[in-house]
Amino acid sequence: MKKITIAIDGHSSCGKSTMAKDLAREVGYIYIDSGAMYRCCTLFAMEQGLVNADGTIQADVLERRMQEIQVSFRLNPETGRPDAYLNGKNVEKLIRTMEVSSHVSPVAALPFVRAAMTAQQQAMGREGGIVMDGRDIGTAVFPDAELKIFVTASDEIRAQRRYDELVAKGETCDFQQILENLRERDHIDSTRSVAPLRQAEDALVLDNSHMTIPEQKQWLLERFKERTLSPASPLQGKE
Ligand code: DC
Repeated sequence: MKKITIAIDGHSSCGKSTMAKDLAREVGYIYIDSGAMYRCCTLFAMEQGLVNADGTIQADVLERRMQEIQVSFRLNPETGRPDAYLNGKNVEKLIRTMEVSSHVSPVAALPFVRAAMTAQQQAMGREGGIVMDGRDIGTAVFPDAELKIFVTASDEIRAQRRYDELVAKGETCDFQQILENLRERDHIDSTRSVAPLRQAEDALVLDNSHMTIPEQKQWLLERFKERTLSPASPLQGKE
């Protein structure tokens, strides 16, 4: 059976990575978290002192040093999911901190950062058999993807999920701060000039505000089966 390309886009913390990872594992596809790649660029900028005290980025220096950023993914046998590596170092935990979250959107808005990451993402998906999640996968990275999903949920529900995730990891955090960070990121991601977050015209919309993880998983698996078993049949989105 031909392996297809699956693009899953949506707002911050809407659970798309969980869905995407689970589907990839279930059907034996590669999973790529494109947000992790932008987070790695941000971590690099922070570690190299290229983020100013006021949060602005020293873009000219970062642009000159982009070729020093090598992002890769390796399967973590304990979690069964891929961890992100920056220049050979496992940074999976480091890139998920609030500090990285609060600087990532301006870094991801820089055109030269997007150009570099998009090229790497397209190379990773050249053979198909990939599930990639992000903001511009169905619109800019894989506009010809056979299956495109756009996931969303209410701001409060997304903030609560993120809060629970951080608390489970033992991080101290503030719900209000998370909500504000999430809204700010959505705003920057949706209004930037290059590849803004938007729903592809041919994407199926999933509002998972009131769905459990197993329900979402099932919904996605059904869409996958429809697409791979009878590619010509129309797909039905959840209203
Ligand atoms: O999915 P995430 O929250 O880990 O993404 C981190 C940031 O990266 C987010 O603010 C938007 C940006 N991003 C992007 O611009 N394009 C993508 N394809 C994926 C993420």
